[in-house]
Amino acid sequence: MPTKDLDLLLREGALQPPKGFFERRPPNSKPFLKNFDEYLKLYKQSIDDPEKFFSQMAIENLSWSKKFDYGRLPTNEKIFNKETCDAAAWFVGGELNACYNCVDRHALLNPNKPAIIYEADEPNEGYILTFGELLKKICQVSQILKQLGVKKGDTVAVYLPMIPEAIITLMAIVRIGAIHSVIFAGFSSASLRDRIIDANSKIVITSDESKRGGKIIETKKIVDEALKQCPAVTNVLVFKRTGNSHIPWTKGRDLWWHEEINKYIPYIPPTAVSSEDPLFLLYTSGSTGKPKGVQHNTAGYLLGALLTTKYVFDVHPDDILFTAGDVGWITGHSYVVYGPLLNGATTVVFEGTPAYPNYSRYWEIVDKYKVTQFYVAPTALRLLKRAGSKYVENYDLSSLRTLGSVGEPIAPEVWEWYNEFVGRNNAHICDTYWQTETGSHIIAPLAGITPTKAGSASFPFFGIDPVIVDPVSGEELIGNDVEGVLCVRNPWPSMARSIWNDYNRFLDTYLKPFRGYYFTGDGAARDKDGFYWILGRVDDVVNVSGHRLSTAEIESALIEHHLVAESAVVGFPDELTGSAVAAFVALKDKSLYSDDDNANDIKKQLIVTVRKEIGPFAAPKMILLVNDLPKTRSGKIMRRIMRKILAGEEDQLGDVSTLSNPDVVQHLIDVVKSN
Ligand code: PRX
Repeated sequence: MPTKDLDLLLREGALQPPKGFFERRPPNSKPFLKNFDEYLKLYKQSIDDPEKFFSQMAIENLSWSKKFDYGRLPTNEKIFNKETCDAAAWFVGGELNACYNCVDRHALLNPNKPAIIYEADEPNEGYILTFGELLKKICQVSQILKQLGVKKGDTVAVYLPMIPEAIITLMAIVRIGAIHSVIFAGFSSASLRDRIIDANSKIVITSDESKRGGKIIETKKIVDEALKQCPAVTNVLVFKRTGNSHIPWTKGRDLWWHEEINKYIPYIPPTAVSSEDPLFLLYTSGSTGKPKGVQHNTAGYLLGALLTTKYVFDVHPDDILFTAGDVGWITGHSYVVYGPLLNGATTVVFEGTPAYPNYSRYWEIVDKYKVTQFYVAPTALRLLKRAGSKYVENYDLSSLRTLGSVGEPIAPEVWEWYNEFVGRNNAHICDTYWQTETGSHIIAPLAGITPTKAGSASFPFFGIDPVIVDPVSGEELIGNDVEGVLCVRNPWPSMARSIWNDYNRFLDTYLKPFRGYYFTGDGAARDKDGFYWILGRVDDVVNVSGHRLSTAEIESALIEHHLVAESAVVGFPDELTGSAVAAFVALKDKSLYSDDDNANDIKKQLIVTVRKEIGPFAAPKMILLVNDLPKTRSGKIMRRIMRKILAGEEDQLGDVSTLSNPDVVQHLIDVVKSN
């Protein structure tokens, strides 16, 4: 929390929300909070009595079919229990339906209001779907799923591009109390297969093909490849996106969306579920090779997505939120789908890329629909900044009042560019820190309220008590001007509840490394004024272009290639993508790469292997064929040495005396230099 008063903070360089922000608020809209002092007051309440604070929020903001008995269990423990380490349960005894909260209640009030603005890959091919129309389609798809035997508590796999049907599908699944498991459509068939099997999904929803950046992706073909090893899958529902006729088809198993949907009436009632029933799984990468199905439960997640959208982005019901993220990742779940719809606002579903047909695409969309909140990862901003301001200058962006950033720290020069060229100094820039596991923002400024510093995610959201911990001693670092690993002292409603089918792994990953705290995996600093600065992952996770990758997962992929003996994958800074991946690979037969042509050919094969095993987005930027890897006497690979060499800091390798093969260091330096 800030230790100085607001005036002093501002005099020392923190920035006030711009005046234009307030002028751009919808007419007649009442601000949610008066000022920063009110945030401080509410924040204190949320930490002092989280049960009371969030119970009131849950009653005011969500619609319940049965009111909950307890705001939180266990009631008397505000912080994580050091013995059990268990997460809390929220709104216990309550019943509700996620789809009802996202869609029905707005459709009942205002059926003709736009719920989704679909901007297709090709400009001018999109359309608008109202809340009323959306509800009908959802109800029809729910009935298809019921007919296929999907019941409450079953998981349904979703492998779809960014089209309205992705939202229709998610809502149709949760309407009948089932659990969605979205697999990012950039994942390969092998990754898709593993996730379908892990979640035991029997139904897959996909499209014939996808279109992105003018290119066609053979989506159904990838699904078919995956399903060769998923005997439990009984049916595949296929949305016709391009209508090309040659897609593979398995009679009896595969069903066309457009044929099925017309068989059903436009309404079925939603199924109420308990607050703590699972809402969705979303697979993400961790320190080990095996992806984790992060499990979010219903009421807590909904409340987190709703409140952060409302307070962090200042979303009012007449706003139009454009989150340029994919529904295959958490940003898409919380801020394309759930957050905007829960608030009854309009969400933009954008199928394409920022560079197609040219670098003006985002701004053209903002101008065309008068978008009020825009949310994107810095990696896209770096691309657009590099392309040049001419692509942004000729558009009317005066509707924008909140500009969000997510996924990695936003460098001051990118922040400046965003502020000047996109916000035209009249929008509030909100750098939001959070994770798949946190469900919604945990450290972020509130638009129109919080003073900011470029590059800092500022202060915690309601109910989050961040702690900076000394990574060696595990002790909390008290006061300001401290740096360590970022933890959270107390449970909050939208935190993940488990890893699917593996609660012990959940505890081991998040709640036991620093007992009594939730461990984020990120390093962070709290500056002299109490602002939080995220310093990046301290584990083996690398964020490349907004995609979260596990170095261990890439290593497991590389080892699938028959020539590979072992590999070590590390992240290194990259101007455009934030981080990039380098793979140091030792082959079984070292003579194979004495010849340059041979070596290049092998490198290409290795890239293909990673694309095939994980997906194109995980392909290493650099493959370095080496004779050996630096290892301690106990055989542990010292990745730190490779990171330092890649960063050009070979004079700062630190202690290398524990290496069993010290000669390898010079060899690695030579290989990196000659690459
Ligand atoms: O390292 C942090 C980084 O992204 C990680 C979470 O990745 P994922 O679960 O894929 O979710 C991404 C979208 C929320 C974090 O552990 N990260 C996220 N937001 C920021 C960030 N790093 C710095 N600043 C941020 N605003």
